[in-house]
Amino acid sequence: MSEAPVVRFEVVEGIGVITVDYPPVNALGPGVSDGIVAAVDQGNADPAVQAMVLMGAGRSFIAGADIRRFGKPRPPSPRRSYDALDASGKPVVAAIHGYALGGGLENALACQYRIAVPSAKVGLPEVLIGILPGGGGTQRLPRLIGAKPALEMIVSGRHVPAEEAKALGILDALVAGKDLRSEAIAFAKGIIGKPVRRISTMPPAKAEPGLFEAMRKSIARKARNQTAPYHCIAAVEAATTQEFAEGMATERRLFSELENAPEAKALRYAFFAEREIARIPFLPKDLALPEIRTAAVVGAGTMGGGIAMSFADHGFPVKLLDVSPDSLARGLQRIRDNYAVSVKRGSLTQAQMDERFPLIEPVETYEAIADCDVVIEAVFERLDVKQEVFAKLDAVMKPEAVLLTNTSAIDIDKIAGATQRPQMVAGAHFFAPANVMKLLEVVEGPRTAPAVLAATMKLGRAIGKISGYAGNCDGFVANRSRIYFTMEQNLMVEEGALPEQIDRVMVEFGYPMGPFAVNDMSGLDVSYLTRRRRLAEDPNYRMLPIPDRLVESGRKGQKTGAGWYRYEKGDRTPHVDPEVHRIIKEVAAEQGIEQRPFTDEEVLRRLLFAGLNEACKIIEEDKALRASDIDVMWLNGFGFPRYRGGLMFWADSIGAQEIYNQIAAWHQRYGDRWRPSELLRQIAESGGQLKDAKSPRLR
Ligand code: 3HC
Repeated sequence: MSEAPVVRFEVVEGIGVITVDYPPVNALGPGVSDGIVAAVDQGNADPAVQAMVLMGAGRSFIAGADIRRFGKPRPPSPRRSYDALDASGKPVVAAIHGYALGGGLENALACQYRIAVPSAKVGLPEVLIGILPGGGGTQRLPRLIGAKPALEMIVSGRHVPAEEAKALGILDALVAGKDLRSEAIAFAKGIIGKPVRRISTMPPAKAEPGLFEAMRKSIARKARNQTAPYHCIAAVEAATTQEFAEGMATERRLFSELENAPEAKALRYAFFAEREIARIPFLPKDLALPEIRTAAVVGAGTMGGGIAMSFADHGFPVKLLDVSPDSLARGLQRIRDNYAVSVKRGSLTQAQMDERFPLIEPVETYEAIADCDVVIEAVFERLDVKQEVFAKLDAVMKPEAVLLTNTSAIDIDKIAGATQRPQMVAGAHFFAPANVMKLLEVVEGPRTAPAVLAATMKLGRAIGKISGYAGNCDGFVANRSRIYFTMEQNLMVEEGALPEQIDRVMVEFGYPMGPFAVNDMSGLDVSYLTRRRRLAEDPNYRMLPIPDRLVESGRKGQKTGAGWYRYEKGDRTPHVDPEVHRIIKEVAAEQGIEQRPFTDEEVLRRLLFAGLNEACKIIEEDKALRASDIDVMWLNGFGFPRYRGGLMFWADSIGAQEIYNQIAAWHQRYGDRWRPSELLRQIAESGGQLKDAKSPRLR
């Protein structure tokens, strides 16, 4: 049996309908582009055809070029679909539903008309994978809608909703009817005989003076170390100074400079890693998952409130339970304030706030949540407090309810043990602020039922999170790998590196903020208390006398105007403070630690190798499934620069052998905390790649 063609052509009432059918998202995979060219030729050759429609089958128009094919040799296309559509003697209408992204929108721009259903989204998101629109998007879009809005779209890569796209002039019409195909055919009939419009014949776009320089300045901080955003600007600039053919050549040249650069490779890797993390291969495929339509959150603190907002933001009704009426009122007010700030900043409309806020229903009794499909506990981080909550949940919740704990480190099984249904309990570890951060660690306890694990992964996606599997261990995957970074950050200061040097190195590497500035923002007192708790549990726990001394002298971070840095009133800019230098020297002397200068490279490696060594141990212990999952967690939980792919992907640029040798040397020098991971040793010996590491259960 021959395979169904990826592009179909049929003639309906004098209109040639070209349908791309390449699941799941009609990416321009093998045969699609050539199929469009052949169909356009067929339509032009057929006297019965007077106009054409280009559309996508399934859930989307065309989601862009096939990202899997980038970086690999591709046979050159004798004619590109964009050129065939542009040159078509008979007008073509792009009829868009779902997504028209990247090459998808570029094909639509090469058509003479574009219509869409109101739920459609269009965009040129190439910059997000380290390239630029290479199918004429940088030349056609500015000519069609003007340089300024085109520049903003191309440099941000954002998805533009259909209504806005219509207002910008990208779309000619929105069609409200149920059947896009017949609407498109009707539209195509209406353009027969009208003069054919081609964007490629329009003169260069006009740009206000200083537009491009201003854009370069405005992205300087975010686009640090990156090339693609600047090449995007240069390509759009060409659309304002060069004729179409010349601009296309400029676009092609800039595109080819980006496609195989490390930045694009890292961003493509991150794109696929963020999809791979959703898969837990050892779960049976045919699991019957508990339905989740209604949710409850226990604990109206900052975390509980943020979790409730994540539900409301995705249209889920959610009950917020706190047995203290005061805490409940405060929690609700905090949520209202958070939404109001978003409205003020313009990231949310008042109408959206009015839709979302009422979805959060405050309740004061456990009975009031008994019927919910899922409950997420977000109370104080102490085992006995959590066990008390779970015993109460066990008493009231319906038997099929999924019971989740938002602990960041406590043994899930001990919490599950407070119930008679430990199989229904799993961890759902959100990152603060929970309504903003994309990462959700889904923790499997030893007794968690596979269907509960799968349902929690799915729930995370339904509320806009990237769900990642974590095994039950202290700190789970993300925090456990990160804690060694934090430890080294403090120990290097004891040894003579200054906080401002460490922060500078990490910002230059690509973090949005240095780790000490982050500490000051979140407050030094929280980890101060955690260290005391840990010491009570483990007398050998390594204390950190410098941050302890800071807290004890009233320096708790931004909120007290001083921490690792000094702050002016009402300003969050960190200022280097000689008093901190004095405290560091004083404590180091008391501890008998000799101080020495650090090179920037040593700073970077000490922090990242510490995380990496532990990450390898987590994988070898089966607590994380893949190296790429850890990368996704560092990207979405800790601000690791995306254009470096993630911790493990970045490490491959140095090589496992060199890293192993360094860690082994530090093991000799500093002792057990640097004991090299066995998995790292094996990868180093075999000459393998860290990014490909998998847990034993996936091998
Ligand atoms: N190429 C290859 N595979 C793609 C793809 C693409 N452009 N877009 C999506 N996929 C795959 C995903 O990997 C995933 O595969 P899997 O099921 O095996 O994991 C599957 O399609 C479904 O994707 P999502 O899980 O992401 O589905 P969503 O519904 O959540 O999102 C989407 C859909 C918004 C289209 C999202 O997939 C997306 O953003 N895709 C990338 C869009 C993009 O960047 N387009 C530009 C490509 S570059 C280009 O066009 C260059 C040109 O200028 C020359």
